[in-house]
Amino acid sequence: MKNAPWWISEVIYQIYPKSFYDSDGDGIGDLAGITQKLDYLKELGITMIWLSPCFQSPMVDNGYDVSDYRKIAPEFGSMEDMDRLIQEAGNRGIMIMLDLVVNHSSDEHEWFRKALTDPFYHDFYIFKESDHIPNNWRSVFGGTVWEKVPGKEEYYYHTFHRKQPDLNWENPSLRKEVISIVRWWLDKGVAGFRVDAITFLKKEDYAIRPEPDGVDGRASLTGFGYDVDGIGAFLEELKKEGFDYKPCLTVAEAYGVKEEHFKDYIGDQGYFDLMFDFEAADLDYEGDWLHPTNWTIREWNDKLMNYQMKIQPYGWCGTFIENHDQTRAASKYLGDHARNPEAVKTLGAMYFFLRGIPFIYQGQELGMVNFSRERIGQFDDLSSHDMWQRGLEQGLPKETVMKLINRRSRDQGRTPFPWNGEKYGGFTEGKPWLELTREYPDINAASQAEDPESILSFYKELIAFRQHGKWSDCFKYGNITPLKSHEKVIAYLREYGDKRLYCWFSFADESLEIELPEECSDDSWHTGRDLYIKEDRLTLLPRQSVILCQHLP
Ligand code: GLC
Repeated sequence: MKNAPWWISEVIYQIYPKSFYDSDGDGIGDLAGITQKLDYLKELGITMIWLSPCFQSPMVDNGYDVSDYRKIAPEFGSMEDMDRLIQEAGNRGIMIMLDLVVNHSSDEHEWFRKALTDPFYHDFYIFKESDHIPNNWRSVFGGTVWEKVPGKEEYYYHTFHRKQPDLNWENPSLRKEVISIVRWWLDKGVAGFRVDAITFLKKEDYAIRPEPDGVDGRASLTGFGYDVDGIGAFLEELKKEGFDYKPCLTVAEAYGVKEEHFKDYIGDQGYFDLMFDFEAADLDYEGDWLHPTNWTIREWNDKLMNYQMKIQPYGWCGTFIENHDQTRAASKYLGDHARNPEAVKTLGAMYFFLRGIPFIYQGQELGMVNFSRERIGQFDDLSSHDMWQRGLEQGLPKETVMKLINRRSRDQGRTPFPWNGEKYGGFTEGKPWLELTREYPDINAASQAEDPESILSFYKELIAFRQHGKWSDCFKYGNITPLKSHEKVIAYLREYGDKRLYCWFSFADESLEIELPEECSDDSWHTGRDLYIKEDRLTLLPRQSVILCQHLP
């Protein structure tokens, strides 16, 4: 396994620029707004910001459709705003990580425009001459992966929306362009990249899939399109020529990486430093949102622990419970207890002390919750609209489909950040581009900043404990082993040198008796008022977190 690198000490905060803070009153968050809020982030204790895309874009997928990788979207500001943000964040000891979206571009990118007439750029994308849709693959956002080129018997390929044509990574000239974009941003002083949808880069042979998985006769790309053999050569080159150009931290959105490739992805010489896994985050549905599961705490525990154990021999992962594609974690994992601060704190602590680099998504530190919408017109997110259509096509009642979409919509994580209890949560002086959650008068940053018992204060404590506490090195570098426990408890042991941390996180409604493995009472940390230990027994209160720390003689 590789030696722990510099970034082992990072705590990363994800910002969705459109929804963070609007400095100019147009209802859309912007870079200058982020700069104004840096002191809030500094006080929280984070060390790096992952900025969701802020490049020029028609915004069909809120910036994940880039039309110029070297320009800032005008709604988010200017390149001067970006330079200022990098500078001002740096002054506060905070680094900036960008979102590198290079599986596809926007169809409004100059390359794509030229591709329609110029053979050199034509090969930057994936075109097939055909008088019919070339195969039965379903795109991630629904419908075929092929879009007809107007006036021609030709189609182009898109993993996501038709306005997000896939780049042709088989073409060395395209790869050279991507590498030069990476270097250009590193020269500007960014500290790394979160690399979008990267396991889709290499395509299968475009053959018709014999087993469709929907009434549309198509097969979902998510069943076979990830981590296709041969992808390694592209990633290797991207790392060597791009990421290795300057010290930086890279994290891959790595759906579907095969276990035998873990070492190649994040081992000592891996293509990336970290990767994100989605097994635990997506435990609440099967295949698509129309198929919810009745998951249990035990299954959640097993998914988390399996991944931790699988990745440990090779390297590290990014640990998270929320991002801009997920719903609010409190609503997802805690159900009826979504607004119970004790439960929200335990949820935070549970993932925060796993082995890996913790990522916090904006608003998670306030315990934000989902927002139930009534009409499809209230949704902005592409996939929510797709799921609505598909649900209706499948003959499901409207109310059922609405419920399922509310349960999973990507808009849940994208509601504007509630800075205070005033109009529109102080997010904007205009009209917000997306409605705020109904709870903002209660759940907002200003009120929580004042309250030492708040979830925000708790996140500060969590970060400080991991970063600077007495047991910090054990959290950062320590190995992890799952501990056997009650079916509603997630429990693990972190070990480093002569230090041990026994960690229990209860999601149960009742108090539970835990038999202590051995004498482990050198120090302790817990949520809730009290800690009950008697001889070799710990009484874990409902939704309590307890960490018992031991220094071996
Ligand atoms: C990634 C992003 C998601 C986006 C998609 C297409 O999954 O996280 O938000 O829609 O890629 O770029």
